[in-house]
Amino acid sequence: MADNLRDGTACITGAASGIGRATSLAFARDGCRKLVLGDLSSAGLNETRTMILQMYPTAKVVTCVMDVANVEQVESFHATAVEKFGRIDFTANIAGYGHLPTPSVELKSSEISKSFAVNLKGVFLCEQAQIRQMLKQSPLDGFESRGSIVNVASLCATIAMPGMTGYSATKGGALGLTRGDALDYGPHQIRVNCVAPGNIITPMLSGVMGEEHMAIMAGITPLRRLGRPDDIANAVVWLSSPMACYLTGVNLPVDGGLALSTGPF
Ligand SMILES: NC(=O)c1ccc[n+]([C@@H]2O[C@H](COP(=O)([O-])OP(=O)(O)OC[C@H]3O[C@@H](n4cnc5c(N)ncnc54)[C@H](O)[C@@H]3O)[C@@H](O)[C@H]2O)c1
Repeated sequence: MADNLRDGTACITGAASGIGRATSLAFARDGCRKLVLGDLSSAGLNETRTMILQMYPTAKVVTCVMDVANVEQVESFHATAVEKFGRIDFTANIAGYGHLPTPSVELKSSEISKSFAVNLKGVFLCEQAQIRQMLKQSPLDGFESRGSIVNVASLCATIAMPGMTGYSATKGGALGLTRGDALDYGPHQIRVNCVAPGNIITPMLSGVMGEEHMAIMAGITPLRRLGRPDDIANAVVWLSSPMACYLTGVNLPVDGGLALSTGPF
C-alpha cells in the first residue's frame, strides 16, 4: 500500500500513545507525509513525532496539545491543519478513555462525565470540524471522496462486557455518529467509518486488565492472541485509502474473532 496516501493530510487524535501512535506511523509508512497529531500529552506527542521523523525524515509533523472535549481546542487543532497544509483528507478519531470495570450503579458521576466527554462528545466535535472542512474541498487526485473519517470505537459498542456499561454507552454513541454522518454526508462524497478493536495491548488495556485476565482473553480469542496497535492502525489506514472507496458507515471489527466467542465473560 506504499504511497497510496501521497499528497494527503491526516489529522489523528490520541496520537501520543497506543493505537493513535501506531496509526500515525502507519499513515507515514503508507505515504501520507503531512501529519497533524493531537493529544493531551505533550511528551507523548513529541515521542511519536520523533519516531516518525527517524523513520520518514521527509515527513512534516505538526503536534498540538489539545483536549477533544473542548470545542475551541478542537477547532484550533483542525484550523492548524488547514493553515499548514491547506486541507484535511484523512482523519482518525482515536483519543479515548476507559474507566475501570465497574457496574453502572457504582460508576462515579465524574467517571461518567469523563467517558462521555472524551469518547462521545470528543468524536462529535472532531467530526463536525472535519466535515466542515471536507465540504469546502475537492477530492485529491486518485480519490473519489473529498475526505475520509475513521472513528475508533470498540467491540463494546455492539457487545456487552461485564462492568463496561458506561464505556459501551459512549462507544455505541460513537458508532451512531459514524452511521448518521455517513448517511448525511455520503451524498457530499465524505466517507465515515468505524473500527471496533477487540483487546489490544496498549497502556489503556494494561490499565484496566491484569496479566491473568489478558491471558484468559487471548485464550478465548479465535486467533489465540491479543491484538497489537498495528492491527488497528492497518485497518484505519486501509479504510482511509482509495481501496475502500465504496465503503461508508461500516463498523469493522478488528478483534481476532473475539466477537464470535461465547465467553467466558
Ligand atoms: N486497547 C484496547 O484494547 C482498546 C479496545 C477497544 C477500543 N479501544 C479504543 O482505542 C482508542 C485508543 O486507545 P489505546 O488503547 O491506544 O489507549 P492509550 O491510553 O494508549 O491512548 C489513548 C490516548 O488518548 C489520549 N487522550 C485521552 N483523553 C484525551 C482527550 N480528552 N483529548 C485528547 N487526547 C486524549 C491519551 O492521552 C492517550 O494518548 C481509544 O478510543 C480506546 O477506547 C482500545
